[in-house]
Amino acid sequence: MSYRPERRAPVQALSEVSLHASEGELLAVVGPSGCGKTTLLELLCGLREPDAGTIECPPAALMPQRDLLLPWLSALDNAAVALRLAHMPKAQARARASKVFAELGLDGFEQARPYELSGGMRQRVAFVRTLLSGKQVLCLDEPFGALDAITRAEMQNWLVAALTQEPRTVVLVTHDVEEAVVLADRVAVLSPRPGRVVTELDVALEHPRRRTDPAVVALREQALEALGSERTSEREQVR
Ligand SMILES: Nc1ncnc2c1ncn2[C@@H]1O[C@H](COP(=O)(O)OP(=O)(O)OP(=O)(O)O)[C@@H](O)[C@H]1O
Ligand SMILES: [Mg+2]
Repeated sequence: MSYRPERRAPVQALSEVSLHASEGELLAVVGPSGCGKTTLLELLCGLREPDAGTIECPPAALMPQRDLLLPWLSALDNAAVALRLAHMPKAQARARASKVFAELGLDGFEQARPYELSGGMRQRVAFVRTLLSGKQVLCLDEPFGALDAITRAEMQNWLVAALTQEPRTVVLVTHDVEEAVVLADRVAVLSPRPGRVVTELDVALEHPRRRTDPAVVALREQALEALGSERTSEREQVR
């Protein structure tokens, strides 16, 4: 008996997505599971080629949805990987990474291996690694997904502060519509697969933004409505 891998029909992940992010802007992308968000980031980072259309993007670093830390390196050396690949001397790279470690509450865990860290800690290490890549564009795929609500809010505040200090263009994929509105300059809502842009919302609000601010609540509702209307039309098509 021989093993024959199952052949599946190709899946179209995205459909005619047209998005633009200006330099220094934080663009959030929300959409239902499987609508092509990760695929979109992989296209931006050059890990996949589009079948059609064009992508113009300066060098971009990806924080993958699964942290993919190197199990044989310490947390600190994982965070410093990009610096080392750019030939920064070890001591200097470690010093740079440990400064950010302290800011993210990871101090004391520099020497821990990834398996010794909690899920949230691993995400933070992966986040530091992406940030220290020095790339102009950061593609963050559900960066705070595995964190508890308090740590998540702390990380969100920290991200806003870090980007104020060191502006980058960020494409943030998140399931959390509230997170998108609290963090982003613009929110793109995608439809179910194949993902297309249903609506784009401008979030012209000063930081820090409170979740209970009526303007934040209103935008969150708009984004949820856009997501919900697509779900309804999908069900109607099935019938
Ligand atoms: N290597 C692959 N081979 C075949 N299909 C794939 C592959 N990678 C992704 N897909 C399919 O493409 C679609 C889009 O996947 P993608 O991972 O981009 O979705 P997503 O929006 O990031 O989902 P989630 O929110 O669950 O992370 C999904 O239906 C997925 O099953
Ligand atoms: Mg994904």
